[in-house]
Amino acid sequence: MFCLCSNKSFDEIFELQQRHPVSTEEMIAKYTDCLVGCGSCISALKAEAEFRELIPQPVTAL
Ligand code: FES
Repeated sequence: MFCLCSNKSFDEIFELQQRHPVSTEEMIAKYTDCLVGCGSCISALKAEAEFRELIPQPVTAL
């Protein structure tokens, strides 16, 4: 898939996320222009990032 507003493919966005993993919201804010764009790809971007397990999980107390 491709984000027209960011002019990046999802693979390009996920490559940045793999290099420097951040939360979903930070990924959208730092690695895309979705927040100033149409926003139409955000749900697909989030879903695919979670499916690929690219979102760091918070450390839970033992
Ligand atoms: S296509 Fe991704 S925010 Fe518009």
